[in-house]
Amino acid sequence: MSARRREFCPVVEPNAFAHNPERGIAGDAASDGEAMRTRAWQLLLSIATLVSCSAVAAADAVPVRPFADTLEQRLAACAICHGKEGEGTGTKQYYPRIAGKPSRYLYLQLVNFREGIRKYPQMVYLMRYMPDAYLQEIADYYSRLDPPYPSPLTQTLSTRERERGEALVTKGDSVHGIPACVACHGKALTGMLPAIPGLQGLQFDYIAAQLSAWKSNARTAKAPDCMREIAAKLTGPDIAVIAKWIASQPAVTGARPAPETRQKLPLSCGSQFD
Ligand code: HEC
Ligand code: HEC
Repeated sequence: MSARRREFCPVVEPNAFAHNPERGIAGDAASDGEAMRTRAWQLLLSIATLVSCSAVAAADAVPVRPFADTLEQRLAACAICHGKEGEGTGTKQYYPRIAGKPSRYLYLQLVNFREGIRKYPQMVYLMRYMPDAYLQEIADYYSRLDPPYPSPLTQTLSTRERERGEALVTKGDSVHGIPACVACHGKALTGMLPAIPGLQGLQFDYIAAQLSAWKSNARTAKAPDCMREIAAKLTGPDIAVIAKWIASQPAVTGARPAPETRQKLPLSCGSQFD
């Protein structure tokens, strides 16, 4: 066997073809027709590679390289945008922090991308064919992480902006029927179990874009969609000051989502119920 031929022969991963329910993407695509086709092609290709390469392996007794099939390794693709521990990337970039958000919130978002309810193309693409159980595993994983927060936005707010931003977030605006964000997102904006996300550590651009997306119906959540009702009442300038104010708050490190409250939330949110 020539060295050139050997280059094309992968080191065979132990149990590479065994059924492994933890293998996401095309690994466990159940009933979806297109995914089954992908799986069939992969299997054919694997068998062809195995047959043509087994001679190389036998002749050279290539040692089997140990392959640690860990969840962290499989989530390396996510780290490119969300950071190694889901901390989000860049201070000006759009890639949100996902670490420490409630598991149920993360799970619902992953499902929403898979179903095309949230529309960011790369996320929709990555979630295709991922079975529910795997998405739940990913959600559980990131919800347990607590990496350091980015430095807060240094852009100064005018006194009027600061007062308006702080008032909307901490008290709401009773004249316009806008509830305080902290009533649901927690006093320190670290979220609330089971499905309200923390807002601290999110970038200005991301917060503003999500509120605008709800306002224009581009983002929706399980009905009744409380965020849709709230965003509908926010003006463009309100959205900008809220996003600026939240992004300029120093983060409380080590803070976890608040426990589920027995008190009634100011509005009903479908994602808080099963
Ligand atoms: C190419 C960059 C990119 C990659 C790779 C990527 N994401 Fe994302 N992800 C984003 C962006 C951008 C958003 C926000 C999209 C939007 O505006 O709705 C997002 C949103 C999310 C959200 C929702 C966040 C929230 O607070 O609502 C979760 C959860 C998530 N991604 C998980 C993952 C996981 C898990 C992977 C790996 C399987 C992954 N992402 C890979 C860019 C990426
Ligand atoms: C009645 C409860 C409630 C109130 C009040 C509330 N939120 Fe929310 N918020 C939610 C829920 C529930 C979600 C998750 C929706 C989903 O499942 O997609 C959410 C999600 C968000 C998100 C998306 C975060 C992410 O990671 O993508 C942002 C941004 C947000 N809220 C901002 C605000 C702001 C700003 C205010 C105040 C003006 C506010 N919220 C008031 C319940 C509330």
